Amino acid sequence: MEANRFEFTSIVLLILLMVAPLWGAGRSGRAGRMNRWDQVIRMPGEADEPEENSTRWAVLVAGSKGYGNYRHQADVCHAYQILKRGGLKDENIVVFMYDDIASNELNPRPGIIINHPQGQDVYAGVPKDYTSQHVTSENLYAVLLGDKKAVKGGSGKVVDSKPNDRIFIYYSDHGGPGVLGMPNMPFLYANELMEVLKKKHASGSYKEMVIYVEACESGSVFEGMMPEDLNVYVTTASNAEESSWGTYCPGMDPAPPAEYLTCLGDLYSVSWMEDSETHNLKKETIAQQYTKVKERTSNYNTYNAGSHVMEYGNKSIKSETLYLYQGFDPATENFPPNKIHVDKRMDVVNQRDADLLFLWQRYKRSEEGSEKKTEILKQITEMMKHRIHLDGTIDMIGVLLFGPEKGPYILSSLRKPGSAIVDDWTCLKSMVRVFETHCGSLTQYGMKHMRAFANICNNGVSEATMEEACIVACGRHNSDEWHPSKREYSA
Ligand SMILES: *[C@@H]1O[C@H](CO)[C@@H](O)[C@H](O)[C@H]1NC(C)=O
Ligand SMILES: *[C@@H]1O[C@H](CO)[C@@H](O)[C@H](O)[C@H]1NC(C)=O
Repeated sequence: MEANRFEFTSIVLLILLMVAPLWGAGRSGRAGRMNRWDQVIRMPGEADEPEENSTRWAVLVAGSKGYGNYRHQADVCHAYQILKRGGLKDENIVVFMYDDIASNELNPRPGIIINHPQGQDVYAGVPKDYTSQHVTSENLYAVLLGDKKAVKGGSGKVVDSKPNDRIFIYYSDHGGPGVLGMPNMPFLYANELMEVLKKKHASGSYKEMVIYVEACESGSVFEGMMPEDLNVYVTTASNAEESSWGTYCPGMDPAPPAEYLTCLGDLYSVSWMEDSETHNLKKETIAQQYTKVKERTSNYNTYNAGSHVMEYGNKSIKSETLYLYQGFDPATENFPPNKIHVDKRMDVVNQRDADLLFLWQRYKRSEEGSEKKTEILKQITEMMKHRIHLDGTIDMIGVLLFGPEKGPYILSSLRKPGSAIVDDWTCLKSMVRVFETHCGSLTQYGMKHMRAFANICNNGVSEATMEEACIVACGRHNSDEWHPSKREYSA
């Protein structure tokens, strides 16, 4: 029975409830020592000051939509509040969010978004620069390049930065090997983002840039791709081959208020933001935040429900204070520069299962025998059917192209560390389009198969051969609902 399968999924999710590691005491001892040491070398008042006429810019992107993805927009709104309290001006903060959460019929607190179980509203005041159909990778590129003419719709606000300025970019969403999600297709592809960063650097219109990315396989967007000479420092929630994690979900510890059916945040994201809020950013360095966020996101070195925070680009930048990017809230004047205040393991859910968890919560809470309940069950069934279809056809295409023995290995094989997932990005995109034409939309779940398409390119398969394989694997798959003509192509 379908329902049993979801019971099972839910049980698997709940098995993620685990005991906190018992070495918290030792860790806070270490942190205490580090603090004293830190204060010795960095006297109060010695914080880096931005150069004269240097402006802080920020670009905040929530790459998803839908109430089941509440957490990504909640993360981004929260980040805005931190920067705002830090003194950044609205004219220098560009926000991309679909904006379908606060007034969603499922939102138990209309007009309010929270990012922590006991959190205050983070939605009030957030600039609505690019919302709904204007949240696109094309607009993001134009905004980063300060190219007002290329922007389509939205407020028209762009990063009109000058040579002395610093830029902070924060992105929260689903991802897959080499790609980040967007609520409107196509995905953001790593090679395009790199071209934009190189162009921005060549224009000499910033001093330094810091990028934080929360997404599954987010390391793969930068691994083997991110040059060291662009004055950009990047950290990602996960390495190139693992999930990132949603947190503050129903049934977890800590749990959202009972009326919430959806996760409120993501592990890496709440880790950096809760760190920024509880420290004096004129004293805390980017490196200190990186270390702490890495520890917390690993779920205190358990990693089984946590991920490896990674860093890329020019690592000299991380000795700077966070103040240069996130500003300074005077209320934090007497806060410490760096201290581990949370050492409790957090319950989490794989980004890709968070939407199932959400539907399952809705299913459980809707009235027995109601039309709504039947409708939700149908949605769950459809979603599972499409997932199984995607996984199955990718496997079959591997077998058709490379044979039953080698197929699975070739599709999932990792290139050597430090390599990009693919060299020919045009090939990657054309494989995605061919697949979607015959087999239906990849959806946010199917982003995980980007490595298979990359490896098909890496093994020199032609587009014509790929098309034949897709026709054989999906020829009889009748899926109007999932066809890209309805859902747009991901590439
Ligand atoms: C800073 O800006 C002011 C006003 O625009 C200008 O007069 C001054 O020369 C600038 N200083 C530097 C170091 O660029
Ligand atoms: C990295 O950044 C530092 C500090 O801004 C700079 O001195 C150095 O030249 C940069 N390295 C590269 C490879 O660009």
